[in-house]
Amino acid sequence: MSLPKQVRLVEVGPRDGLQNEKQPISVADKVRLVDDLTAAGLSYVEVGSFVSPKWVPQMAGSADVFAQIQQKAGVTYAALAPNLKGFEDALAAGVKEVAVFAAASEAFSQKNINCSISESLQRFVPVMDAAKQHGIRVRGYVSCVLGCPYDGDVAPEQVAAVSRELFAMGCYEVSLGDTIGTGTAGATRTLFDVVGRDIPRDKLAGHFHDTYGQAMANIYASLLEGISVFDSSVAGLGGCPYAKGASGNVASEDVVYLLNGLGIHTGIDLDLLIQAGSRICEVLGKANGSRVAKAKLASA
Ligand code: HMG
Ligand code: MG
Repeated sequence: MSLPKQVRLVEVGPRDGLQNEKQPISVADKVRLVDDLTAAGLSYVEVGSFVSPKWVPQMAGSADVFAQIQQKAGVTYAALAPNLKGFEDALAAGVKEVAVFAAASEAFSQKNINCSISESLQRFVPVMDAAKQHGIRVRGYVSCVLGCPYDGDVAPEQVAAVSRELFAMGCYEVSLGDTIGTGTAGATRTLFDVVGRDIPRDKLAGHFHDTYGQAMANIYASLLEGISVFDSSVAGLGGCPYAKGASGNVASEDVVYLLNGLGIHTGIDLDLLIQAGSRICEVLGKANGSRVAKAKLASA
């Protein structure tokens, strides 16, 4: 199969990247990060989450972040909504696109959203109805698609079953999350092969955490399977609070570098993206998790 000519990156740094940070991060710093990312040409940014602040305290200020970002035409600013309450809060904050999130493993579903997979899918039905009524698009996530921190191996057929449900209830795209980063390129190809039997490949996305250093290989494997949407996090920030040891998503800078090398268009300015990543790393007092950013900054 030939590689896609164009790829859309879903920047999840402000949400997946920051949700796991223990130190308080000001609304102003979060706003600056989102605005820096769109200045670099990102056309889709996951800004925050409307989840329980008891579960994920760092995302508590998401409505304030939405109120203060400079919303640019042509950019999608999205948020996670785990249930109708989250959807209603997102709506009140002026959010135009939300994402619901399910898991392919029962144990992760319980730990992350306190219910079974089938209960979670039932919870999403009123969210889908309300979203339709308000003209809001809904993206779907499936976590633990290549392994679960509690249940171990996850069969691609199980991922396909949950993805099918999300797609059937109206999610316009389903993002498959390797939450703990254990997947390898062969397993990734098999996964998209199996899930792609039920859902068109242009409605699927890849969401790779880089815990085992496999994310770039998995993205390349996904490209070979005709996948053209990838979630990534500036400076490789992040992790999931309910997946111990999970490191950040693949760094956006590294994905842009890979795609530039393949002649695949993203519309993203790599230098500005590197600046955005450096700035948030300074705020967090963290080392930059992007290999490309580190190399370019060292040689500047
Ligand atoms: P629960 O405790 O079962 O909820 O949590 P509940 O319905 O029983 O309600 C209990 C209390 O929570 C009530 O308040 C509700 O109002 C409140 P009280 O009466 O006790 O004062 N509540 C809420 N508050 C704010 N926003 C809401 C909300 N809903 C209820 N939306 C719940 C269930 C789903 C809320 C909780 O488990 C939760 O918030 N989980 C979120 C976990 C999370 O955000 N995880 C990280 C994101 S997923 C991820 O990172 C994976 C991904 O990146 C893909 C990948 O890598 O695989 C997407
Ligand atoms: Mg994630």
